[in-house]
Amino acid sequence: MTSFSTSFSIIKPDDLHVHLRDGALLEIVAKHTARQFSRAIIMPNLVPPVTNTQLAGEYKARIEKAAGQGFEPLMTLYLTDNTEMQEIQKAAENGFVKGAKLYPAGATTNSDSGVTDISKIYHVLEEMQKQGLPLLIHGEVTNADIDIFDREKVFIEAILAPLTAKFPDLKIVFEHITTKDAAEFVAASGQNIAATITAHHLLFNRNHMLAGGIRPHYYCLPILKRNIHREALQKAALGDSGKFFAGTDSAPHILAKKESSCGCAGCYTAAYALELYAQVFDKAEDLSKPASQAKFENFMSKFGADFYGLPYNNEQITLHKISQKIAEKISTPEGDIIPLLAGEEIDWSVVYAA
Ligand code: NCD
Ligand code: ZN
Repeated sequence: MTSFSTSFSIIKPDDLHVHLRDGALLEIVAKHTARQFSRAIIMPNLVPPVTNTQLAGEYKARIEKAAGQGFEPLMTLYLTDNTEMQEIQKAAENGFVKGAKLYPAGATTNSDSGVTDISKIYHVLEEMQKQGLPLLIHGEVTNADIDIFDREKVFIEAILAPLTAKFPDLKIVFEHITTKDAAEFVAASGQNIAATITAHHLLFNRNHMLAGGIRPHYYCLPILKRNIHREALQKAALGDSGKFFAGTDSAPHILAKKESSCGCAGCYTAAYALELYAQVFDKAEDLSKPASQAKFENFMSKFGADFYGLPYNNEQITLHKISQKIAEKISTPEGDIIPLLAGEEIDWSVVYAA
């Protein structure tokens, strides 16, 4: 008897939050992202950061060269205490900059030049609200006295809620949310407030990172939380509000920087992102069902485009329920990158054109 495994196609998705780095790493990771995604919102936390449209344009050209034809990088600006209003106007005029990123100074990798006090950029946010340019937020407070597992929740109370009251029409993407609190906040807010969710925050809780040994490749910011939070994120991802969409936050670091006495934050998922998200949707809602496939397509390929006002992509991509082993490592001239779940089996495979 022949047995058939599930196979289905969706509109080729968008990754609404990814780190592609620069130089030798960019050459490798951009191709991984471009294999699975038609477009991606590119994070600006390079060293030095991408703080203006000129730098964003130059970075965009480097990405296009590395990714090859058919991939569109959607650029972002890195906000600092010194960002000027004119820079927002310039970005809005140029069109290829799709948002500006707020990193509270010191919150995460390469955020040292971030904003030290949100009130310093009120004039910039005013202009973004006027121009309809989305504000992308790393939503964690940085106070040393706030527990790392509470930093997102405290950010909502201390910064985000007052901010949305002050700028009621500002488009905001609460990036890589990790808590029930964040999912509930976004769900209860207006249609101008959305959130990205990573595959790893949908798949794992903090036990995966800490129980039975410390696993640095699961360490990212915002940090993995308790399982009740993962469940709330899953519910949000499977919902139909249109406010939650895929953003991998794939963030490559070389092995030596991850497996270290002070390891960097960031999980590398770009090479298997669709398979990882499919795993989540399949476990929760059985991806052999057309209705579940449609939900998956909404989350991966439609809701993010709708929020950013982009047309849906023309290409399709096919997933097959055939297991594969995730690579043990990805070699780069700067050192190896260890993908999340390196060496482990996952149920799904993307079918690539030969
Ligand atoms: C990101 C990185 O490495 O650039 N790291 C991470 O843990 N997610 C930065 C970020 O998005 O916080
Ligand atoms: Zn990120």
